[in-house]
Amino acid sequence: MMEVLKYDVVVLGSGLAGMRAALEAARASKGRLRIAVISKLHAMRSHSVAAEGGISGVLYPKKNKDNERLHAFDTIKGSDYLADQDAVQLLVKNAPNEIKLFDHLGVPWNRLDDARIGQRPFGGMSVPRTAFAADKTGFFMMSALYDTLLEFSNVDFFHEHLATAMIMNKNDFKGIFTMDMATRDTVFFSSGNGIIATGGFARIYQFTTTSYSSTGDGIALAYNAGLPLKDMEFVQFHPTALIPSGILITEAARGEGAYLLNAKGERFMKKYAASKMELAPRDIVSRAIYSEFAAGMGVTDSRFGDIEHVQLDLRHIGDRDIDEKLPMIKEISIKQLGIDPSKEPLPVRPAAHFTMGGIHVGIDGNVLSVSGKKVSGLWAAGECGCVSVHGANRLGSNSLSQCVIWGKITGEKAAKRALARSKTTLPLVGRLYDEEGKINILLTKNGSESPYEIRRELWAAMERDVNVYRNNAGLRRALKTVHELKERFKDVSVEDKSKVYNTNLRDTVEIGNMIGLAETVITGAINRKESRGAHAMHEYPSRDDKNFLKHSIMYKKKEGITLEYVKVKITNWKPEARHY
Ligand code: FUM
Repeated sequence: MMEVLKYDVVVLGSGLAGMRAALEAARASKGRLRIAVISKLHAMRSHSVAAEGGISGVLYPKKNKDNERLHAFDTIKGSDYLADQDAVQLLVKNAPNEIKLFDHLGVPWNRLDDARIGQRPFGGMSVPRTAFAADKTGFFMMSALYDTLLEFSNVDFFHEHLATAMIMNKNDFKGIFTMDMATRDTVFFSSGNGIIATGGFARIYQFTTTSYSSTGDGIALAYNAGLPLKDMEFVQFHPTALIPSGILITEAARGEGAYLLNAKGERFMKKYAASKMELAPRDIVSRAIYSEFAAGMGVTDSRFGDIEHVQLDLRHIGDRDIDEKLPMIKEISIKQLGIDPSKEPLPVRPAAHFTMGGIHVGIDGNVLSVSGKKVSGLWAAGECGCVSVHGANRLGSNSLSQCVIWGKITGEKAAKRALARSKTTLPLVGRLYDEEGKINILLTKNGSESPYEIRRELWAAMERDVNVYRNNAGLRRALKTVHELKERFKDVSVEDKSKVYNTNLRDTVEIGNMIGLAETVITGAINRKESRGAHAMHEYPSRDDKNFLKHSIMYKKKEGITLEYVKVKITNWKPEARHY
């Protein structure tokens, strides 16, 4: 059964960016607009709840010897000069007010002795400017937002609705087609104003700090609708994921003073970033760990399945600080491995953590078409929208700032547009029945391929060939595998034919999305013949500003990918060599 619901603004995704967008749209509408928040999960299970270390923003310029210019410079240098500098300036200007807003919404920030909001050091930041609520910052920010939104009678939540298509009419957004997980009924959210806020796609890797839900669905919907993606080749590997699970051990552990040690017990970061040591940006620390492995300096331990790792030593930090500032990683380490980090170092290695690339958007989050024109009524915010504040490598704690700032901007823009325009008209009904038909076919056909086997092979290829260090032969092998998997996916079979909470069907839709996104990651990587930020190529070890100081743009044409480039916006900071 198909239902059609009309809303003035629809927000797809219920993490920090999505809910912040809904809040701003609700505030701007003063009760005059109906807003839907649609999520494939229960909103409070969105991946933002897993954010640990904190949110960046200049709060105390005098006391911390900090200023917006310095925050911008750190971010741009961290990005390996690929960030759009006007967008970075917008981020650093707005971040302090967002932290204060969340203070008003009730986030229990850790405090200094004089009751001000505490801030701690993070990688690549010149001074301590990361506000935090222990190591559960995302959870507390999400709880505050969700509780606040429940007070608005004009905001409706649609939990557990999986989006399977974005409906466009030429350059106009028309709505989101979804499947209700509880019943398998389809629901079309008809609206002239949409905000995509579905997060990143680091789940195209097996060893990742992200949830199983981080499959980049909104990015795939935009791509399948013919819209361009930007900088997809840049995937961030977080240096310290606990083995074997991949659970994040927050960078805040190093911010609070933890050391990284190799097999000889040496603080090896002195060889790679002598001034910043463990608090160098993530691309540098992850490469350093792999270099230690290559030099035979990795650690193995039969207790952890002999998986090669390095050690994260927190013992000198002391129980009091660990309990006040890092309680969750202590709990996780004890529960997962039986290790108390105040007594024994933790076994960690790099894991896929964040995707710098995403839907091509302009500085106000408005989605851009292939011609660079704004798509009417469509925005993207948070990790799925590549406004390019992070360029080739994001600094830790800048993502929460990005989520809430572009959530706010896009929520306000969408509400203003909805208030200024009359109601949307329904697109051709035939298009909706086509979408419903696709789900029915997927559910009922009896193909010979298991989606889980396809995912297993995708994960293996990405882990082996599209990791921290890349090379031409590996990337080409991975692309060949992905092309084969794409073909095999046409013959995929959903074994569970039931309607109620059919997670087999959901997983299959997600795996289809992941294959398409992986193809763009590898294609972008093969064509970027340089090393910049998170993209480190064996054959091209240096950054090449002459040929590659530009964003890659990829879109679907017939069955192939078209790759083009657009300029990076440079305002104040000329690219220079990046030393730490
Ligand atoms: O390590 C962390 O807490 C991660 C933070 C981030 O990715 O911004």
